[in-house]
Amino acid sequence: MSKIRDINLWKNGERKVYWAKKFMPVVNLLEKEYSSTQIFKNTTIGMCIHLEAKTARLALSFKNCGAKVVCAGSNPLSTQDDVVAYLAKEGVEVFAWRGEAEEDYINNLREVLNKEPDLLIDDGFDLTTLLYKEFSHLKSKILGVGEETTTGVIRAKALEKEKGLVFPIVAVNDARTKFLFDNRFGTGESALSSFMRNTNLLVAGKIFVISGYGWVGRGIAHKIQGLKGRVIITEVDPIKALEAYMEGFEVMPISKAVKLGDVFITATGNCKVITKEHFLNMKDGAILANAGHFNVEIDMKSLEELAIDKKEVRENIHEYVLPNNKRLYVIAEGRLLNLAGGDGHPVEIMDLSFGIQFLVMKWLLEYGRSLPKRVLQVPQEIEEEVANLKLKSLNIEIDTLTEEQIHYLQSWN
Ligand code: NAI
Repeated sequence: MSKIRDINLWKNGERKVYWAKKFMPVVNLLEKEYSSTQIFKNTTIGMCIHLEAKTARLALSFKNCGAKVVCAGSNPLSTQDDVVAYLAKEGVEVFAWRGEAEEDYINNLREVLNKEPDLLIDDGFDLTTLLYKEFSHLKSKILGVGEETTTGVIRAKALEKEKGLVFPIVAVNDARTKFLFDNRFGTGESALSSFMRNTNLLVAGKIFVISGYGWVGRGIAHKIQGLKGRVIITEVDPIKALEAYMEGFEVMPISKAVKLGDVFITATGNCKVITKEHFLNMKDGAILANAGHFNVEIDMKSLEELAIDKKEVRENIHEYVLPNNKRLYVIAEGRLLNLAGGDGHPVEIMDLSFGIQFLVMKWLLEYGRSLPKRVLQVPQEIEEEVANLKLKSLNIEIDTLTEEQIHYLQSWN
């Protein structure tokens, strides 16, 4: 029995999923291929994921291929209650509502694990962490996990190093068909559109300080550049910093950048990137947002302590008045900008990521028991199958290597 805000909201959720489905050819083709054999029959898939139209489409494709699907949200602010209502109406068990308290968030993850899933999809690794901490008895039942994001893969590797794994965890995030498109183009567009929609402010001419020049950071920086905003990059990796410089961006430490920026967007996966001494040195009216996975990149706790006044000045935007009388504006409480204030990544991007998730679940179902109990990369065949399906749906043909070319590329003399 699902725990959601209101089942009566399903009609609007249905419309959102209908729209997403229209632009998700890869997931649609996979569903068509594997529904006839009901490939996930007798399998329970537990998902902890941002619950909006595209993820709903993925959950439904599993269901239509025979699985029992149980979902919780991976971020209290990204859950869309109407989509969740539609999922529940369609027979997916859901434990999530927008704005759920921290305690409810964890309890909802517990509900998913209570259903004793065989396979997990995680986004940030909270579900798997909870399994290790509180549901040890289930570890032997799990065939494997597909981890969706950078932060989750880092945590999975830390767990592997410290305690060892008892089932394989597939780093879906590290697939080229994922991070090259999702982290870079997906976050680039959705973070920017969310900034514009939430603030109703201009990008052109503003100085954006982007912390982290990984796949997410560079995606955002390039979109800002395209809209004629000015970009400063802060980094800790000298090679990435050099890359940013060669791409035409200014590079400097955050302590210097804070005095110049009009808008700050963190994308590091790290904690306390912007903290107390930085807030005090910012311009009056500076806007802060985060595109990394958790709400720890902007040190919200110290901002709350520092501020002498706080109020919501616009939906999703809080104003903090500092002791020096400057006002700072934080979008979406320092949680994921693109998801909390919008619909997340463009549909076509998630079609690729979820095509991978679909095939990874199939791979784990078939081979999970015999695979090494480690953090694994997505097999090349899965990557290629997804890329080929996408190209096919776009009517794009490419060349293939001749026998002579294959031989040439494999010879050393
Ligand atoms: P990445 O590992 O490619 O890049 C992170 C960069 O941050 C690295 O270059 C690292 O050197 C830098 N960094 C670390 N600490 C720093 C500090 N204190 N100051 C400045 N730079 C610092 O990771 P990726 O793929 O770019 O992901 C970044 C974050 O975004 C992760 O938390 C990931 O889970 C999340 N993510 C968010 C998405 C969204 O929808 N908003 C989509 C995909 C990933």
